[in-house]
Amino acid sequence: MALMSAHRLSTTSGCGVPADVPRLGYVRGRRSDAPGVWTLDIEMADDAPCDFAPGQFNMLTAFGVGEAAISISGAPGGERLIHTIRDVGPVSHALANLAPGDPIGVRGPFGVGWPMATPGSDVLIIAGGLGLAPLRPSIYDILARRDAFGAVTLLYGSRRPEDIVFHAEVEAWRREKKINIELTVDHAGVDWRGHVGVVTGLLPRVQLDPSRAIALLCGPEVMMRFVGAALTEQGLDATKIFVSMERNMKCAIGHCGHCQLGPTFICRDGPVFTYERMRPLMSVKEL
Ligand SMILES: Cc1cc2nc3c(=O)[nH]c(=O)nc-3n(C[C@H](O)[C@H](O)[C@H](O)COP(=O)(O)OP(=O)(O)OC[C@H]3O[C@@H](n4cnc5c(N)ncnc54)[C@H](O)[C@@H]3O)c2cc1C
Ligand code: FES
Repeated sequence: MALMSAHRLSTTSGCGVPADVPRLGYVRGRRSDAPGVWTLDIEMADDAPCDFAPGQFNMLTAFGVGEAAISISGAPGGERLIHTIRDVGPVSHALANLAPGDPIGVRGPFGVGWPMATPGSDVLIIAGGLGLAPLRPSIYDILARRDAFGAVTLLYGSRRPEDIVFHAEVEAWRREKKINIELTVDHAGVDWRGHVGVVTGLLPRVQLDPSRAIALLCGPEVMMRFVGAALTEQGLDATKIFVSMERNMKCAIGHCGHCQLGPTFICRDGPVFTYERMRPLMSVKEL
């Protein structure tokens, strides 16, 4: 136990502060991004928001309620921390309902993020539902260096048109034509003119060159399993497909075992992994 405490104290987050101590921040903005989904704009009280890599997450504390792992959804290098939260349970409800001026605790950033695509690669980004949130920093990063990449495609599926998160921004990206964008919904309303069906149904619309492509996937696990299988069938190597995994978290620093998936700790070793590494684990029910 003493050994464990010593280790804990020496463990630091990406900001150089002890990783088990939340820093104080204040909510400065709150915006609805879809029914039940809220984006918070957080200013750190110490005025030093830390750098993060696209795909990393913070542990956010709603004081008096609890702490949850939430991906960073804003642009790298920004002055504020941006997080997008779906109100599903006690902690996410408390976080999503914080008002401007309210305090919030922040530990992190934690984890291994999305890989940097090598210059010249094609990048295929596939998101389901709120899975677009952890991918958004990567999209900003790619847009900032757009000339470095070949074809960049976003395939995004949501339940209903109104559940599309960051919808106005996605449409702006589409108008700019820097990224090829295909949207699909499970249940269309009368106004929907786009594709209907699961996101794998969009794959035949992509010209995939397996020799130069990488794929970044985030969404429900079943979606990532089907998309990963379909992409490997199309010749993309499983080491070039990346998935972001979610498990309940507590410490976020590899100590408590809450996020363990087989031999892997999602907080410490992920949340982004190659599909090659996750494929055997994703096929085991209830792991
Ligand atoms: C690395 C990582 C990144 C994450 N990033 C985000 C993020 O950016 N935004 C975000 O909102 N959440 C994110 N999560 C999920 C988040 O940490 C919590 O699990 C989630 O907010 C629910 O916590 P809760 O305590 O409010 O609800 P709980 O008490 O855990 O759950 C209440 C009910 O909601 C259901 N539920 C739990 N999680 C979800 C979910 N994701 N979607 C639908 N139903 C659910 C449960 O099955 C249960 O029925 C992330 C998790 C991990 C591990
Ligand atoms: S959350 Fe504690 S080991 Fe990952």
